[in-house]
Amino acid sequence: SPIEIRIDPKRVISEVDPRIYSGFTEHMGRCIYGGLYDPGSPLADPKTGFRKDVLEVIRSLRVPIVRYPGGNFVSSYKWQDGIGPRELRPRRPELAWLGEESNQFGTDEFMAWCKEAEVEPYICLNMGTGTLEDALGWVEYCNGTSNTYWASQRRKNGHPEPYKVKYWSLGNEARPWQVGQMTAEDYAKTAFQWAKALKLLDPSIELIACGETGYAAWDRDVLKVLAPMVKYHSLHQYTISAGDHMVNVAGPAGAEKGIQITKSLIELARIENSVQEPITICFDEWNVWDPKRAIGSQGAEEHYDLSDALAVACWLNVFIRQADIVKIACIAQSVNVISPVMTRPDGLFRQTTFYPLFLFANYMRGSSLQVSVSSPIYTGKTRPEWIQHVCPPPFVDVSAVLSEDGKEVRLAVVNRHPEADQELEIHFAGVDVGAAVRVYEVWHEEGLGVRNWFGEERVRVEERKEQVREKLRVKKHSFTLWCFTLLG
Ligand code: AHR
Repeated sequence: SPIEIRIDPKRVISEVDPRIYSGFTEHMGRCIYGGLYDPGSPLADPKTGFRKDVLEVIRSLRVPIVRYPGGNFVSSYKWQDGIGPRELRPRRPELAWLGEESNQFGTDEFMAWCKEAEVEPYICLNMGTGTLEDALGWVEYCNGTSNTYWASQRRKNGHPEPYKVKYWSLGNEARPWQVGQMTAEDYAKTAFQWAKALKLLDPSIELIACGETGYAAWDRDVLKVLAPMVKYHSLHQYTISAGDHMVNVAGPAGAEKGIQITKSLIELARIENSVQEPITICFDEWNVWDPKRAIGSQGAEEHYDLSDALAVACWLNVFIRQADIVKIACIAQSVNVISPVMTRPDGLFRQTTFYPLFLFANYMRGSSLQVSVSSPIYTGKTRPEWIQHVCPPPFVDVSAVLSEDGKEVRLAVVNRHPEADQELEIHFAGVDVGAAVRVYEVWHEEGLGVRNWFGEERVRVEERKEQVREKLRVKKHSFTLWCFTLLG
């Protein structure tokens, strides 16, 4: 029997914050060097060294914010090494990925790149080897307007205007794999002091606390202390394919549970601390990442297939459904490293995962709508294992928006099932929709293992018009986005 989907365009969850389509660039592998910045490439701007083709792709994704410079990298990064004349910048050992950092790309280059890419910068502070004094200096360098030391250094380096960087996060991950790991208690105590001083220096900045998965004791402990000081609590999760398609596409259900739990933890921390201002989630690292599969590449260069594209679509459905609490999300990462975009000196290609991201970023904006779906549930193997017991996901995964102009209802549907097409019966409450529907589909007849390559983008978007009334068909292992016009 068909799967019933019920939508009422008046039942709004929340506005979709466009910042959920943000990115992340880390000094890791070929993300910065060879990705954003590639002076040797004929495709780079001869003046800046920025890849023009990469900039164009980032603009096509309408990316609002990009986080920088890490990730793990930041925990031993000295930002002062990356400013001033390039020939004087020191080359340093790099402790996160055990390489060397040339410092040829630093804060000013990142700010110039953001301007070209039409994105807002978001800086992650070094709470590993870095001191509060370093952090204050960085904020002053970027945002200072008075005649003080670091603001004057910025002017001396040729940047008279402040960069007005609004988003600053208090460290990255701070866990055992980090330089300067801390207990939750120590982290919260230190971050509290940093937050106080940073806000004294620049009250306009918005601070992001370093969280974990959303269902970790760390999240609870840190929120309890930092609730009065921060505007966002950050979450990081990567889902894994482990060579099993259903494990791959079920993973984002765990992220959704982490978000729901964090929402309650935030409420509890606000109650306990009498915090009136809202605190929301900044999911500033998310993606599909199978470290085993990526081994041997030049730094986590995943080569994604159709199954991964569907997992990314499930991730994005999560952010739409949780739009009331997730206000920022950054795909990790934006170029080459676990990324939807891959470069080499003479060109780039869009991975399979690029296409759902492109469709969401361009069409799934407006108001997130409540949807009820009568899909059968997948109860098989998951990673982590608890997903199958706590929140086993439906085979058909759906989110919906009312477009910004109020003229269309857009429905994003992933059919996770590897073998079965599905028939859907759509019911709109209280409105009529036109029979002509625009459809965007990501699918491939050769199955879930299909990948893209330079000059060979086999998985992409197929666009068509369909005449439908109530019943729709979705192919096995596909992602489909429908745009229905509201009548009257
Ligand atoms: O994005 C890759 C890495 O994953 C980041 O450096 C770190 O924060 C996370 O563990």
